Amino acid sequence: MLAIIGGSGLAKLGILKNTRRKAVRTPYGSPSARLTAGKIGQRDIVFLARHGDGHTIAPHEVNYRANLWAVKKAGAREVLSIATVGGIAASMAPGTLAVPHQIIDYTWGRRSTYFEGKGKPVEHIDFTEPYARSMREKILAAAKACGETVGDGGVYATTQGPRLETAAEIEKLSRDGADLVGMTAMPEAGLARELNLEYAAIAVVANYAAGRGDSKRAIPLEKISAVLDEAMDRVRRIIEELCK
Ligand code: HPA
Repeated sequence: MLAIIGGSGLAKLGILKNTRRKAVRTPYGSPSARLTAGKIGQRDIVFLARHGDGHTIAPHEVNYRANLWAVKKAGAREVLSIATVGGIAASMAPGTLAVPHQIIDYTWGRRSTYFEGKGKPVEHIDFTEPYARSMREKILAAAKACGETVGDGGVYATTQGPRLETAAEIEKLSRDGADLVGMTAMPEAGLARELNLEYAAIAVVANYAAGRGDSKRAIPLEKISAVLDEAMDRVRRIIEELCK
């Protein structure tokens, strides 16, 4: 089964059919929302709104441990994350879709592992490639099959938020090698790996990051929702193809 975790701009998935809501309890508390189970084409799917049904949970307040645990408990083996980001690299203009291949984690104070607590043996996961290769390839193949242009690769810098970055911070992230900036890839991707879930993402560029493109002096926040509405239509087409 495939789990889809939707971010800003994708709190509901209308292409999901025969839906039923499922409240899942986990040892880590409640996930962001009840899961929505259903079908896209022939495929069984569970959908979870990362920021809650009413988009009320900030990136640093998301209970990532409960979210990943819940989708695994519901039977998911693969996870597709839809992640809204800012574009740092010149090629990452608003409206661009990309399947990132690397992550840099700048977050702090988030509950980021299942491997902690008294009496638990210390475990270290391999995270050289934070996104599952097979899942990335499936997304890229689906995009190609339905004629949607999606960038292959990109380094996703995960910032703490919820405020957006300063122009100098974006310069630093750029020097570090980041192409995209968002607030939710970590600890989500790490927890997915700890649970042996095949995890990859479609990053949706909502705006140029601070100091870049038309965000030179300020990020034009009023433009974001139109960009996301249009881009999420393309994301939905890719998801439908992926589920064929
Ligand atoms: N920075 C961080 N996260 C984001 C941005 C951004 O510019 N745009 C959308 N999510």
